[in-house]
Amino acid sequence: MWGQRKPPRWAARRGQITRNLTDSLHFGTRPKVSEPAPRHESVLTREVCRALTPVLGRRTTNHRGGGGTLVDATTGLGGHVVALLAQVQPDRVVALDRDPEALAIARERLADQRCPITWIDAPFSELRARLAELGITGVEAILADLGVSSIQLDQGRRGFSFRASAPLDMRMDPRRSPSAAEVLAAIDEASLTRLLRDYGEEPDARRIAAAICRARPTTTGELADVVATAMSAPQRRKLGTRVHPATRTFQALRIHVNDELGELDRLLHDGPELLNVGGRMAVISFHPRGGRVDKRGRQEPASPLARPPAIRRRARELPRPRRAIVQGFAGGVAPSDEELDSNPRARSARLRVLERIAS
Ligand SMILES: C[S@@+](CC[C@H](N)C(=O)[O-])C[C@H]1O[C@@H](n2cnc3c(N)ncnc32)[C@H](O)[C@@H]1O
Repeated sequence: MWGQRKPPRWAARRGQITRNLTDSLHFGTRPKVSEPAPRHESVLTREVCRALTPVLGRRTTNHRGGGGTLVDATTGLGGHVVALLAQVQPDRVVALDRDPEALAIARERLADQRCPITWIDAPFSELRARLAELGITGVEAILADLGVSSIQLDQGRRGFSFRASAPLDMRMDPRRSPSAAEVLAAIDEASLTRLLRDYGEEPDARRIAAAICRARPTTTGELADVVATAMSAPQRRKLGTRVHPATRTFQALRIHVNDELGELDRLLHDGPELLNVGGRMAVISFHPRGGRVDKRGRQEPASPLARPPAIRRRARELPRPRRAIVQGFAGGVAPSDEELDSNPRARSARLRVLERIAS
């Protein structure tokens, strides 16, 4: 039985999780974890700078005669903006995030920057409309670092994590409904099974969905326990001691509550259209569906040479390609071993970059 085993390794991995917590993970009470100071280690920062500084770096010489506009669609605590502004001086930064708490911290952190920064408290599905309100129709660089920030995960009260007991919330923007608890109170078993399969790739989706619908948990602790109890022994063995049985369920619920894939689709539709010619969009994703970025870049062939010979002959008659995946970033760039040593959370992050090559 779970409770008798050595505490699993995933439970003790992070500094702020107390030993007390690892001891009581199994069906007992979870201690309230003291809130750590807000901190987020930005991922793939060097690679993001390599991708975006060339289009912002032509300070006085770029085709628009200035440093261009940088949009950070997922500002979080502003780590990537700080790193980029250390290397380039855009005309303007537009910093957007749907989490008002994160944005307030970033605002303070970036208060000393010389570059004008416009703050937008909204989901990036509204990016095009919000830029239009500012009179901006084209930008040089867009960055989207998808997923959750460490403050969302680590602050137990936000209800994203099974590591501390709190009301099941998981909303990046706490002003929007429904919370994860509200979703679980209303959802039927078949829909929940689909949700766990589609967003969490959970092989035990049916068993887990049935157990959740019986228990209707309202806290992170209750949900983690229901999932751990419902999961079949072979699946638990497969996960081993490093991964908590509820990891995929929590991921699936979070993606659903925040409509993360719908948001990504809107960004991949609008983002490339907002780029000026020569502009780039960099996307960091932690989910296999981040591959949609490559697909979006390939919707129009990158170069006439990429076309089959019969078509190549008529290349001049064909519409000019408008987007291309930037060489060196196709398929997604992974963090270096050095970065993984200092930040294991980055392990599944991939950076993909698109460039607009014609109007
Ligand atoms: C991984 S963090 C970004 C960290 C940031 N790049 C840094 O270096 O500090 C992801 C951020 O994206 C935000 N976010 C996720 N989906 C979003 C969406 N659809 N619209 C706006 N912000 C979103 C989250 O609230 C979170 O603050």
